[in-house]
Amino acid sequence: MPVTLTWTGHATWLIDTGHGVLLVDPFFDECPTATMQAKDVECDAILITHAHFDHVADAVAIAKRTRATVFCNFEIAQWLGKHGVAKTQPMNLGGRVPVPGGTARMEIAHHSSSFADGTYGGNPAGWLLDVGGKRIYVAGDTCLFSDMERIGRADHAGRGLDVAILPIGDLFTMGPDDSLAAIELLRPKVVLPSHYDTWPPIEQDAAAWAQAVHAGKLAAAHVLAPGESFEVP
Ligand code: NI
Ligand code: MN
Repeated sequence: MPVTLTWTGHATWLIDTGHGVLLVDPFFDECPTATMQAKDVECDAILITHAHFDHVADAVAIAKRTRATVFCNFEIAQWLGKHGVAKTQPMNLGGRVPVPGGTARMEIAHHSSSFADGTYGGNPAGWLLDVGGKRIYVAGDTCLFSDMERIGRADHAGRGLDVAILPIGDLFTMGPDDSLAAIELLRPKVVLPSHYDTWPPIEQDAAAWAQAVHAGKLAAAHVLAPGESFEVP
């Protein structure tokens, strides 16, 4: 079974591992570029990088309706529990847990994390997934950081990253230039851009970015339109 990644807009991804669908950072109904509504999303697990509204806005509604377990940091799990979400897996940086189709490790990210109501949202995170035989890094909201070299290292079986999903929107995260340095550190086979073009302040020329990735022979860059899917080779 192939592993398929679908970008539904902004930083929201559906990852079909062949053994279940992981939903990363649910943001649909208030997302200007979202290609589906929260009520139509089906998933088996929800993974959250941090508490900002553009990453958790529809988490409560989708978790309640689908009964999917939400994997997130301890503070976000507490907040979700207070809002009626029954199934959470609280964890923290460095923790690795089973998810449908494999495992997920919570990785560092350099950002902030608070809920729209002001509640502290714990440390921001990224996800290092080993699902369906593929190693996929979801950076979340972050700047460039040198530990990306460690995250990109091959595992004990000699497998590097198959895919890296990186923000390129700038302003709140790294921008296109720093993402090139991130790709050099991570050395993924494929890179997919995220967290851009949702609103004017984070508009980017993704085609020019992809050209720069290819000019530097860094990875295969695939620019998806919202709603488009990518099958991991
Ligand atoms: Ni954020
Ligand atoms: Mn964000």
